[in-house]
Amino acid sequence: MSRSIRLAVIPGDGIGPEVVAEGLKVLSAVLPQDVKVETREYDLGARRWHATGETLPDAELESLKGHDAILLGAIGDPSVPSGVLERGLLLKLRFAFDHYVNLRPSRLYPNTATPLALREEQRAAVDFVVVREGTEGPYVGNGGSLRTGTPAEVATEVSLNTAYGVERVVRDAYARAAARPRKKLTLVHKNNVLVHAGHLWKNIFDAVGAEYPEVTTDYLHVDAATIFFVTQPERFDVIVTDNLFGDILTDLAAAITGGIGLAASGNINPGGAFPSMFEPVHGSAPDIAGTGKADPTATVLSVALLLRHLGHDAEADRIEEAVAADLAERDPATARTTRQIGDALAARVSG
Ligand code: NAI
Ligand code: MG
Repeated sequence: MSRSIRLAVIPGDGIGPEVVAEGLKVLSAVLPQDVKVETREYDLGARRWHATGETLPDAELESLKGHDAILLGAIGDPSVPSGVLERGLLLKLRFAFDHYVNLRPSRLYPNTATPLALREEQRAAVDFVVVREGTEGPYVGNGGSLRTGTPAEVATEVSLNTAYGVERVVRDAYARAAARPRKKLTLVHKNNVLVHAGHLWKNIFDAVGAEYPEVTTDYLHVDAATIFFVTQPERFDVIVTDNLFGDILTDLAAAITGGIGLAASGNINPGGAFPSMFEPVHGSAPDIAGTGKADPTATVLSVALLLRHLGHDAEADRIEEAVAADLAERDPATARTTRQIGDALAARVSG
């Protein structure tokens, strides 16, 4: 645990700057006086791209490296062609900083809405975390097209799976499962059809599992997992899966546990060779930008993940307790602004 935090902040576009301001407010309220936060803001995203044509210049990538962590709001706007900022900024950061663990916790807090019809004891037990591989799978850009634009077009998008990449993320997931009360780890894949990659994942999952006798293991095909997310979400504790399955499952997880306003995530380089990046799962929400309607809670929960990553567990716990208490008292009939929610959470963590 360090007594100072060098934090890079990428507020981004739309509601990004609005929710990040509240996240930083809660961060400074929760930390003890003697922990200093030095923040440096980076102007990246749609606005920057329109102004200069740049997405993530090398000089800025270098400068980001000198930080302990990155807090990101959201990047994107309908005025930017699809893929430009995703590939040129978000994915570039993930690959350059080797964010091989994409962490998304899902907890069904009391008094939050879920579209699922769950019994009370099921509801109370919904608390799981998806460890999604972040640097391999079909997201590496290993593909191309031939005879493009003709009726005979051929396109490939090859999923890349290395023993090295699978083992490191599987190890991280076992360690996380071993540290949680239920100590259960589920591998999600599709090894009955994707046999080559699937067997690599399953063999490594079983081999590493021998080192964690205290962790109960389970395997589910991804299609079965989507059923259980809806019918029995309480059966999950830690889930480990590849980049694509994880992308889809985590959006489903957010949808069943209070929605996009609550979903937090971390793009983590566990060894600390590069700064990890924490961000709400939602985007820049241009439809509500500037109206004060954005819920900053997902960003505040991302700040809790950031603090836990840096070893400030007590402060992370305080933020999560404050969110639980705030949600318990929420009344859908009296909507609060982004700033009012941020102020309430800051008051709770410092009180
Ligand atoms: P979105 O997540 O921005 O919005 C989807 C819906 O959820 C909208 O109705 C929005 O108003 C609502 N919403 C989102 N965050 C909210 C919050 N904190 N409180 C209350 N309501 C909230 O997804 P959309 O509309 O598909 O994308 C908008 C832009 O964001 C696009 O340019 C997209 O590329 C980008 N994007 C960026 C991401 C990132 O920076 N990691 C992730 C997802 C989308
Ligand atoms: Mg997604």
